[in-house]
Amino acid sequence: MALDINSIRADFPILSRILPNGKQLVYFDNAATSQKPQCVIDEMTRYYETYNSNAHRANHTLADEATTALENARKEIAQFFGTKPGNLVYTSGATEAINLVSYGWAKYNLKEGDVIVLTEMEHHADIVPWQELSKEKGIEVRYVPINTETYTLDMDAFEVAVKDASLVCVTHTSNVLGIRNPIEQIIQISKKYGAYILLDCAQGAPHEKIDFSALKADFIAISAHKMAGPTGIGCLLVSSERLEEMGPFMTGGSMIRKVTTEGSTFQEGHAMFETGTPRIAEAIGWGAAVKWLSQFEMKDIHDHVHEIAAWTGKEMNKIPGIKIYGDPSNKNSSGAVSFLHETIQSQDLAFLLDEGGFAVRTGHHCAQPLMDALGVPSTNRASFWIYNTQEEAESFISHLRNVCERFA
Ligand SMILES: Cc1ncc(COP(=O)(O)O)c(C=O)c1O
Repeated sequence: MALDINSIRADFPILSRILPNGKQLVYFDNAATSQKPQCVIDEMTRYYETYNSNAHRANHTLADEATTALENARKEIAQFFGTKPGNLVYTSGATEAINLVSYGWAKYNLKEGDVIVLTEMEHHADIVPWQELSKEKGIEVRYVPINTETYTLDMDAFEVAVKDASLVCVTHTSNVLGIRNPIEQIIQISKKYGAYILLDCAQGAPHEKIDFSALKADFIAISAHKMAGPTGIGCLLVSSERLEEMGPFMTGGSMIRKVTTEGSTFQEGHAMFETGTPRIAEAIGWGAAVKWLSQFEMKDIHDHVHEIAAWTGKEMNKIPGIKIYGDPSNKNSSGAVSFLHETIQSQDLAFLLDEGGFAVRTGHHCAQPLMDALGVPSTNRASFWIYNTQEEAESFISHLRNVCERFA
């Protein structure tokens, strides 16, 4: 069903913002973080204004309300991702979720000589924790290359790399190329060779239904702030089998059962990994975001975004000097279009786009190994989401064409 974009836009107060230079904001930096609908802002404000209190501690009314709201949000979010509340660990985002797998699972279950398979297109969040673990434990880290003509993973190389691997860590969708990886095939091949699987769904979850039970992955890392939720929260979805094998990651209050001067015992399940005061307002905000998103079919969001990205890519290809890194026309592309101009520096181009009111990202996108594979230090990236319109894309292309003609 076609989305009613005008009514969706009305939910996002920021989208009507006029920038200091008098230009209307056109927000094309959604892969970095999405905007937040009014209901998310309201729910978080309501918590702070009416029942702000710590959760899982006191017995007074406010504490009860805060605890109930925190746990209701967990139920909403778990259901949205096709799993049970007990299989969801709140984290600060996808980065902490991956670190939790590295330090809370791999550290306890992998040994020297074991192999972890990554890809060249991983975000640093899914590279650095494994490099650090590798130094600590003597684990081998392998990188599956990408085909720089098609911008897709080399699946033959993947199958070779995974044969003796213990863990495969792959991004669902590249934050640079916008390409969705063949995750079903990746999971099936990994399982064939007995490797466990971690999916980084930071970029996939805003564009497609992520069903943890159906995917049968061992771990999935999710970021709330890229899917209408607040910053400062995300989660690790973890299978019951892997959860049982995990050990403490961060220690302190909340995650303990009993502390004496001799030592401590720990909570079980997700509670072992939620240390200190919980992210109460953020969880409540994310719960509201998930409720808001649930009124749409994720496929409609994907189709809407894909249409804008494919059109933008096609038009960019007509502008002399512009090269796209990725294939926005690919049906598996999610809405991030990375590009460079052959003579205008990416920082300068971003500045010139900003002058027109267009917010795009510039830099290495926390994916330097991918930049190395592509042979560039950085790219500009326009990334679209549910509230972007064809008209915005048209004015963007017109501005970009103009800038390229004037400054090339
Ligand atoms: C693919 C990918 N993984 C991980 C992250 C890190 O997510 P978070 O900001 O939630 O830590 C990002 C953020 O840009 C990302 O794009």
